[in-house]
Amino acid sequence: MSSPVIILDFGSQYTQLIARRVRELQIYCEIQPCTMELDALRALEPAAVILSGGPASVFADGSPTVDKGVFELGVPVLGICYGMQLTCHLLGGRVEAATEREYGPATIHVDKPVGLLAAFEAGADVDVWMSHGDRVAALPEGFHVVAKSSNSPFAAVADESRRLYGVQFHPEVVHTPRGVEMLRAFLVDTAGVTADWTPGNFVEQSVAAIQQQVGEGAAICGLSGGVDSSVAAMLVHKAIGDRLTCIFVDNGLLRKDEGKKVMEMFADNLHLKVIHVDASAEFLGALEGVSDPETKRKIIGKVFIDVFDREAKKITDAKHLVQGTLYPDVIESVSFKGPSAVIKSHHNVGGLPERMNLSLVEPLRLLFKDEVREVGKAMGMPHDVLQRQPFPGPGLAVRCPGVIEREKLDILREADAIFEQEIRAAGLYEKIWQSFAVILPVKTVGVMGDERTYEYVVALRAVTSRDGMTADWARIDHDVLAKTSTRIINEVRGCNRVCYDISSKPPSTIEWE
Ligand code: XMP
Repeated sequence: MSSPVIILDFGSQYTQLIARRVRELQIYCEIQPCTMELDALRALEPAAVILSGGPASVFADGSPTVDKGVFELGVPVLGICYGMQLTCHLLGGRVEAATEREYGPATIHVDKPVGLLAAFEAGADVDVWMSHGDRVAALPEGFHVVAKSSNSPFAAVADESRRLYGVQFHPEVVHTPRGVEMLRAFLVDTAGVTADWTPGNFVEQSVAAIQQQVGEGAAICGLSGGVDSSVAAMLVHKAIGDRLTCIFVDNGLLRKDEGKKVMEMFADNLHLKVIHVDASAEFLGALEGVSDPETKRKIIGKVFIDVFDREAKKITDAKHLVQGTLYPDVIESVSFKGPSAVIKSHHNVGGLPERMNLSLVEPLRLLFKDEVREVGKAMGMPHDVLQRQPFPGPGLAVRCPGVIEREKLDILREADAIFEQEIRAAGLYEKIWQSFAVILPVKTVGVMGDERTYEYVVALRAVTSRDGMTADWARIDHDVLAKTSTRIINEVRGCNRVCYDISSKPPSTIEWE
């Protein structure tokens, strides 16, 4: 693959978005902290460098900066917003604090179609999105204005001889409708970067890298049936075949028929070597009488490690552990700790590789979630596996508030399966982030025929979301809810009432525990 585009992060909430847009152009890019040493940056042999935006002011004490040598690497550099102000500040221009913040849509007038603006005609008016406090007041030597807006006389600037470019607006956000074209004009036309980041190329290179890392050895993988562990396992299987053993732990907290479906899909259809461990008695035993949500999570995490460790030890030649870590987790650990740093609250199997003394194989650590799906598709994995909604590690335990009992789990499983069927039948499954049932720890009165009933309440939860960090309750058609409710009450013994959860996150969470 060609040299990467390096995005130096100054803490903008949009840094990941820049990376996403560049990847959409099939160009490989990496996010690095702005504090990265110049030698380390040079060693990456970047094809181009992008300086992200950031919340700071170049004047503020301790505001993030960059080694000026970045402008002398001989590769094109694009500064976005704070990145542009910093470029001007460091190269001898002048930045001033704006009296008021400019935030929202704006129109720029293209004076000279170069760099990002190469795809436009001179004189064109182009809609963009602005979000900045400070602004450039005087340009460094060698720079000139290539576009202006009514509020920003320096909306886009360039020093073409040194191939240094700056834009005050944000080409990476959707509110800049032609932003992707702009990034393409900069990266492909101006910087000459090759667009060869395709799922097929990734699979090929990743397989070679895994073969190199694992050598003649063997590896194990905890397979959950979720998208990430499934694609990771497939990649490693492609690389080392049956020297990969997958361990699928049934913790007794899975959805209806999940164990059977996972074995059919991965062992029978995709021909992976999968060990099915039924540890439900061990998990449910450890959870007996426990109602506190965090205690439940801790117990499940601990029992999982015990079970996995025990099974893994049986595969005596395994020296490698496959994990489906994704790029956002990697960025979180390398990113400049500005507000773009994400607070991650759910680590279920932390500590596993250290305890087992295995070296990690993380074939997805360069990928965003949608890229994982594309890679799975390129390997011929079925659509259904790749489009599954997320499912929490502690499983149904966090959908059964209060103490966990087998009877409640059985009711929950049946109700959940009916809801999933109806959501799928209505064509909503892939439009919704998560949809599931919850069983409440209370019984209510109902009437069936001439009989009074006293049974559990099931709540239905369905949310739309982009990343699970915030979510809104899904406005599902009432007819779909009505059919689901009727079916659950008629078909599931032990439940006589169904509710629909109409709370958003925040202040509620997606799961009930
Ligand atoms: P909440 O309930 O915090 O959930 O709004 C956000 C997303 O995280 C999932 N989730 C978990 N995933 N272990 C996991 O692997 C957990 O303990 C856990 N708790 C919540 C939840 O399903 C949603 O997608």
